[in-house]
Amino acid sequence: MRVLVTGGAGYIGSHTTLALLEQGHDVLVVDDLSNSSRESLARVAELTGRTADFVEANVRDANALESAFASFRPDAVIHFAGWKAVGESTQVPLTYYRENVGSTLTLLETMARHDCHTIVFSSSATVYGELSEPPFTEDAPTGATNPYGRTKHMVEQILADVAAADDQLRVGVLRYFNPIGAHESGRIGEDPKGIPNNLLPFVAQVAAGRREKLMVFGDDYPTPDGTGTRDYIHVVDLAAGHLAALDFLTEHDGYHVWNLGTGRPNSVLEVVNAFGEAAGMEIPYQIVARRPGDVASSYADVSRAHAELGWQAHKSVADACADTFRWQSANPNGYAQD
Ligand code: NAD
Ligand code: WQD
Repeated sequence: MRVLVTGGAGYIGSHTTLALLEQGHDVLVVDDLSNSSRESLARVAELTGRTADFVEANVRDANALESAFASFRPDAVIHFAGWKAVGESTQVPLTYYRENVGSTLTLLETMARHDCHTIVFSSSATVYGELSEPPFTEDAPTGATNPYGRTKHMVEQILADVAAADDQLRVGVLRYFNPIGAHESGRIGEDPKGIPNNLLPFVAQVAAGRREKLMVFGDDYPTPDGTGTRDYIHVVDLAAGHLAALDFLTEHDGYHVWNLGTGRPNSVLEVVNAFGEAAGMEIPYQIVARRPGDVASSYADVSRAHAELGWQAHKSVADACADTFRWQSANPNGYAQD
């Protein structure tokens, strides 16, 4: 299959591009490199012995997208491109609506002009908001509590509307829980700019000595050890979920939503301990106040993805910590080093 991957130089996109190339698919990545570097794709080429085509462009650039579709003629699109920091989205909401919602409109219009009818979209468990209790099934009520989450929720609704209007369209919405880990080679991984927002990259930088200690946001949640629990999904399992979704969509039309998680909650302190084991050291941490906007617990009901896609997560938090530590140790400054 010929797959156009928006945001394919990023964290999840690079791991998925690697999986696509390994499975024999042809890939064109469209990425503006606003939060990534070409080095990730150079390493994907080194790991797979195959090269993804690359266009440096914003997905909102209708002319660039038009020529990419005309020359590559994709059978399907996986749409990762977007901005993803919850806190930042409250500061620059228009940027989030432009980059996340605006880009999707341009993409869908271009797909329609080029008879490309299959799209897999990176959504997020953030759409479950605080409306119900975990484990979340895909039928749980959705809404969002911040501009980033609203962009994901809006794009889901746009995709549902477009699919309802177009019999040919095949849409797979993937609601990721908390992606962590790195490729087991240690050659590709997560390379956040500045101070990491997410738990695993922060812990990894503490282990590497780049940061003094982890601030644990609250130990008074109604969870077994009082720290927040999340469903941490290894990025390599997540990448495999995209291939499973594409496979499903070759045989089914319409609009489909799947949770991609492990179905198991792990606490902050469990993750800290698992990382300490992987790194062979104690991770220094301090309990501080809760972070505004955080929920006590979030984890998936993964039965639909298992039943419909034949997909499930195989890797553990311990695997993810070992892989992240390998990536972090070999690349202390991410891709900037070479
Ligand atoms: P990432 O920032 O590493 O990757 C996103 C990529 O898209 C980057 O390479 C960036 O340069 C590019 N990009 C951003 N806006 C663009 C635009 N308008 N045009 C072209 N390129 C653009 O992030 P990631 O963690 O790999 O996330 C990928 C997708 O998954 C995002 O849509 C994100 O919202 C979603 N998601 C991520 C998580 C997570 O925790 N990482 C969880 C749920 C959902
Ligand atoms: C995990 C746990 C924190 C950092 C976010 C987005 C979500 C999705 C995934 C994109 C929580 C605790 C964290 C730290 C800590 N992204 N923590 N100290 O908030 O579950 O989800 O990323 O779609 O939309 O909201 O992930 O990694 O930030 O936090 O104690 O320095 O770790 O309180 O319990 P979160 P996270």
